[in-house]
Amino acid sequence: MNNSGSLTGKVSLVTGGSGDIGRAIAKRLASEGSNILITYAEAEDRAETTLSEIIQAGGVAQSFKLDQRNPEDIEKVIAYVQNEFGALDILVNNAAWNIGIPFPELQKLTPDIWDRVLETNLRAPFLLARAAASLLKFGGGHVVNISSAGGITPGSSSIAYSSSKAGLNHLTRCLAVAMAPDVSVNCVAPGLVEDTRMANRLPRAVSEGAKRQAILGKVGQVEDIAEQVLTFVTSSSVTGQTIVIDGGLPAAMR
Ligand SMILES: NC(=O)c1ccc[n+]([C@@H]2O[C@H](COP(=O)([O-])OP(=O)(O)OC[C@H]3O[C@@H](n4cnc5c(N)ncnc54)[C@H](OP(=O)(O)O)[C@@H]3O)[C@@H](O)[C@H]2O)c1
Repeated sequence: MNNSGSLTGKVSLVTGGSGDIGRAIAKRLASEGSNILITYAEAEDRAETTLSEIIQAGGVAQSFKLDQRNPEDIEKVIAYVQNEFGALDILVNNAAWNIGIPFPELQKLTPDIWDRVLETNLRAPFLLARAAASLLKFGGGHVVNISSAGGITPGSSSIAYSSSKAGLNHLTRCLAVAMAPDVSVNCVAPGLVEDTRMANRLPRAVSEGAKRQAILGKVGQVEDIAEQVLTFVTSSSVTGQTIVIDGGLPAAMR
């Protein structure tokens, strides 16, 4: 454990820690000394990899199996945090689900898919923040939501995903108001993040277009997202903000 890091002694809950970006965020927060609890839905082996990478680097980490579509299970993970750590300083709402459905193929976007995307990507971050609010307030905590540039411009894997992330961007602002002055709530909105499972599920035209249009000539890496999360959780005067990390796509510059 890093005894001199900026997050020494803090407790962080990172949802979707079996995923590529969640893993990078959990590792970065751990490298600054935070105790880590990651959640995963199904990929226990990938969650184990995240834990072992943190522990091998001298950090402290545990995992918790959570299907965040289930409100009762969300209450359980926060109760677990309270019993196990007695505190929560940082909540990173990173977990999300997507499926590639080109926008014009309206009939393919069924009510079941719509509900799965919205329950996972928008309702669950709200319910997690709600369940964690009193713990976070106690220590002057931080919430960071991981959204998507597809929540700003109408693109990415499906209409449901893009809409869920637009909702998450606005939820960030609403929660910033609701949880002030004790808790900051901010949001990172990645564009395409290379070499991730989620990026690989995008229609090829979308991912190739993102790389071609980025004015910096490159798109984001998982480490870029993790670094921005660290910046938010070590700031004391920033709240309600969404920052896009996409290599500079003019369409997402709002
Ligand atoms: N990768 C990109 O290019 C990109 C671009 C823009 C935004 N983002 C956002 O960045 C975040 C992380 O993406 P990623 O690339 O790391 O995706 P990923 O590798 O597919 O990871 C997604 C994570 O969410 C978890 N998850 C999925 N459904 C869940 C459910 N019902 N309950 C609880 N957890 C669930 C997964 O758990 P299991 O592994 O156990 O199934 C996994 O840990 C997401 O919010 C995503 O929308 C990613």
